[in-house]
Amino acid sequence: MTQEIEIYIQARYPLIYLISWEEERVLKMLDKIAVDLRKMLFVWTQTQGLYNYVLPDQLDEAKTDPEVALNHIAASNDNAMFVLFDFHAFIENIHVRRQLRDLSKSLRKSNKTVIIVAPAMTIPMELSKDVAVIDFNLPEIAELSLTFDNAIKVLNKRRDVTIKLTPQITEKLLKAAQGLTLVEFENVLAKSVVHRKAIDELTILEVLEEKKQMIRKSGTLEYFSPDENFDQVGGLENLKTWLTKRAEAFTDRAAAFGLPTPKGLLLVGTQGCGKSLTAKAVASQWNLPLLKLDVGSVFSGIVGSSEANIRQAIKIAESISPCILWIDEIEKGFSGMGSSNFSDAGTAARVFGTFTTWLQEKKKPVFVIATSNDISVLPPEMLRKGRFDEIFFVDLPEQIEREAIFKIHLGKRNRQSDQFDTAALARLSDGFSGAEIEQAIIEGLYDAFEENREMITEDILNNLRSTVPLSRVMAEQISSLRAWAEKRARKASRPRTLPAVDLNRFSDN
Ligand SMILES: Nc1ncnc2c1ncn2[C@@H]1O[C@H](COP(=O)(O)OP(=O)(O)O)[C@@H](O)[C@H]1O
Ligand SMILES: [Mg+2]
Repeated sequence: MTQEIEIYIQARYPLIYLISWEEERVLKMLDKIAVDLRKMLFVWTQTQGLYNYVLPDQLDEAKTDPEVALNHIAASNDNAMFVLFDFHAFIENIHVRRQLRDLSKSLRKSNKTVIIVAPAMTIPMELSKDVAVIDFNLPEIAELSLTFDNAIKVLNKRRDVTIKLTPQITEKLLKAAQGLTLVEFENVLAKSVVHRKAIDELTILEVLEEKKQMIRKSGTLEYFSPDENFDQVGGLENLKTWLTKRAEAFTDRAAAFGLPTPKGLLLVGTQGCGKSLTAKAVASQWNLPLLKLDVGSVFSGIVGSSEANIRQAIKIAESISPCILWIDEIEKGFSGMGSSNFSDAGTAARVFGTFTTWLQEKKKPVFVIATSNDISVLPPEMLRKGRFDEIFFVDLPEQIEREAIFKIHLGKRNRQSDQFDTAALARLSDGFSGAEIEQAIIEGLYDAFEENREMITEDILNNLRSTVPLSRVMAEQISSLRAWAEKRARKASRPRTLPAVDLNRFSDN
């Protein structure tokens, strides 16, 4: 990171945009670079104006105005780096923008570099070519370790605080803290001290709790603790086999064996057939944390922050890795990018670009599992080779799968499935999705409950007879999805009988 920034400075990039919340950490690093490159370091904040980093008392409050500060930089003859905090807020101003553009031209021929430090990225189009954007990484284990050691040194002097650490506990604690900023990490430690007067094994849990908090605050990610596992997924044998084979793929043992870590899956198919269910089940099957990314929320919020949102989501996921990143109904987030549905199609395209590039190139073990009910609205780039390991097509369940689904959901409602004619139920539910099968059982339960008796097979059969499955209404979409999947996707079900559902039977309405 330090090196990357040094290279930009030496190459006389006039404007560098560092994305980070951690002003202090950034400043420390820039100070080190300034020493290395024998440059002066000036800092600007709106509240304090411009000052020399090594002479913080000599504030120049006249220069709190951003335009005045930029003029000063333009006129300066110093061999220097100028750090501007929170400038994303001022960049909106048309004068400031123009000044930055002019400045970027003149800086190329000077020994001056302007470094904008902001938590979010807002770079107006006309400046995008002049700016080098760098995502300031979250602290590495080594930095967290240094912070931790310093804190422990201080706390050791306090009689009222108990410190119980082994090398193993410390290692786990630092690992758990990955993904937090140094300030967030210090805060958790401080909380432990205030609440429990101790730093020990329990602190690990507190750190993890802080991380969940951070995920919640991100607004785009949700931490899931799923209870589902593969026993609750009926059928989809090919998909389950593929996933089961990779259950250990994220272990050190697998890496030592030379296995590449799986990138991810795209599950495509008719709604209600178990895509979301499988995504949740994988997490418990693989014993990995599950993060759900809400693409819609990436785009909400202040204009210009969408890109920062997606970068932040990716960073958090990587910091939690190995983990599973679940993107449900991905087409809803990324569809119609080129159209006027989006208030800002350019932003959508850049967010999408950031995401797909990451999918393709990510090194960290974040397994992405995306689902989609409708590929016709997905940007074709999404489906290109290299993005996902596989695209699986989740079709309507076949006879044998429907029978399995009946058994699962009868079991879930505390019924013994051998008390029911599941074969007959499966036969009559041809064309029903798993969700519709579940619903037929629930309706059957209501009917029996109303009559104050136990549910029997006939109750469910009656409900199946009176229900028009979605596949009938959507027969055309389904057959075109199938035709598409035939060439492009693997079948999630193991083919026992070939296309069991005869869609022709729906066409004579
Ligand atoms: N293959 C299946 N096995 C068991 N239950 C299923 C299956 N498919 C769907 N269901 C039931 O229907 C519900 C909705 O399915 P879901 O996975 O959300 O469908 P989608 O494919 O639209 O994501 C599930 O939570 C589950 O109760
Ligand atoms: Mg779903």
